[in-house]
Amino acid sequence: MDNKTVYLNGQYLPLNEAKISVLDRGFLFGDGIYEVIPSYSGHLFHFSEHMERLENSLSSIRLVNPYDRAQWLEILTPLLDTSRDQSIYLQITRGVDSKRDHTFPEKTSPTVFVMCSNIVPFAKLDSGVKAISVDDSRWELCNVKATTLLANILLRQQAVEKGCAEAILVKDGYVTEGTASNIFAVIDGILITPPQGHEILPGITRNVILDIAKKNNIPYSEDIISLDALQTASEIWLTSSTREIIPVVQLDNEIIADGKPGPLWQTMNRLFQAYKRASHE
Ligand code: PDD
Repeated sequence: MDNKTVYLNGQYLPLNEAKISVLDRGFLFGDGIYEVIPSYSGHLFHFSEHMERLENSLSSIRLVNPYDRAQWLEILTPLLDTSRDQSIYLQITRGVDSKRDHTFPEKTSPTVFVMCSNIVPFAKLDSGVKAISVDDSRWELCNVKATTLLANILLRQQAVEKGCAEAILVKDGYVTEGTASNIFAVIDGILITPPQGHEILPGITRNVILDIAKKNNIPYSEDIISLDALQTASEIWLTSSTREIIPVVQLDNEIIADGKPGPLWQTMNRLFQAYKRASHE
């Protein structure tokens, strides 16, 4: 199917015919969760890990998974295209109530929506990107992939209006992640990323990178990173399913190292691309 076909509550429809009620709790409250799963040439990348995170997000907001993994696969498969790389966006909300009321409705069936878009290689890979550091003004459940993204949106917009690709979020002096990405830094030759917990999303790309580091004897650690330490890093990367591994070459007004994507990024990006290819051959 083409990217204009979407799945909504049991039906495949053209995007412009997919409609939900204004009383949907996703619309009224952002009462829902989502996933973004890459599909390379029709193969879902780390499907089980995305499903596991989906299940954790759902149980954190006390929603029952409407489908088991086999049923999810059955829903997603017709949307996959072997001739391109896609990102599959899926969203589940607490469904439609008869009125606007903060309390959970007694009976609703969740709204399930899936759409696809093409993954286009990130344009600024060779030159790297700029980032700003800003206070992390989000809530306490950043491990939940909630559709309620107002803080992330405001912080990302602040970065973009300063000519930057991403805002790096800082809580009590320590770096958490980007508005839509995890963060890695190379400090004293060691690849470091903040530990998992409720302050960051457990990124699938993050975990793949840690696995690659382990298998290739690249020294790494999952540890806290202060903003002061980040400012001394020789490399900073941002990672996500849609943008993969993006090198940051300027943080606030300071150029990082020689202002070019660093040597460990070159190595990791090569290993990551090879891993990706191998995952669907
Ligand atoms: N976002 N942290 C946040 C806050 C994110 O929103 C994302 C991804 C990540 C990286 O996770 P992963 O490697 O599993 O994509 C980290 C997606 C792509 C989005 O919101 O569109």
